[in-house]
Amino acid sequence: MRIDIMTLFPDLCETVLSESIIGRARKAGILDIRTHQIRDYSEDKHHRVDDTPYGGGMGMLMGPEPIWNCYRAITEGVGETERRRVIYLSPQGRVLSQSIAAELAGNYDRLILLCGHYEGVDQRILDEIVDEEISIGDYVLTGGEIPACILTDCVGRLVPGVLADAECYEKESFSDGLLEYPQYTRPYEFHGVKVPDVLVSGHHANIDAWRLEKAREKTAKVRPDLLEKK
Ligand SMILES: C[S@@+](CC[C@H](N)C(=O)[O-])C[C@H]1O[C@@H](n2cnc3c(N)ncnc32)[C@H](O)[C@@H]1O
Repeated sequence: MRIDIMTLFPDLCETVLSESIIGRARKAGILDIRTHQIRDYSEDKHHRVDDTPYGGGMGMLMGPEPIWNCYRAITEGVGETERRRVIYLSPQGRVLSQSIAAELAGNYDRLILLCGHYEGVDQRILDEIVDEEISIGDYVLTGGEIPACILTDCVGRLVPGVLADAECYEKESFSDGLLEYPQYTRPYEFHGVKVPDVLVSGHHANIDAWRLEKAREKTAKVRPDLLEKK
């Protein structure tokens, strides 16, 4: 999968997305993640990208031209047949969930992410190029870079080959509408607390039943809304 991130702070995204599993998937060529400095596409002699909003009000808005120039440069020569989705990271969008991540990983070969900054982005460029807005939660951040990294991470790890085994995500929190069961590793005893007997019994049916019960207990305790949706 290819993911293009249009941003005023590419280094911020590169730092986050060059490490660990996503960083390795990039090196292995499984994920093709490219960051683009919107400022480089400004035709203003001082490379300005923002201006005051019409009608007054606080703060600055990102203007449409540099974003349009950047978008045009990265999509030039690519046919409309590409399974592409252009997403503006915004507190006004659909709130990101595991099922949205799965939908994006399954239905598209290329995501183009637009990160806003300051008070946001001129509406006309959103209307012209953006397919949908996605939010990472009901709160406001200073910019779309952290949300873009979050979206890239959670979609990227669902791309075949990024994780060693599909089971890694098939059985974890949200995948089946439940939070994950508690997990344990060595040592067998830590600060006087032993690993639950069932997990060392070698009885796989009992282990599965115990995990399901614990997943239900945890979900009922901290996220009962998830059980209502099931
Ligand atoms: C300060 S915010 C602008 C908020 C905008 N004035 C509003 O009230 O909706 C600046 C940028 O941060 C990003 N952003 C902030 N909160 C976000 C969230 N919860 N999810 C996704 N992106 C967010 C967006 O790209 C946005 O353009």
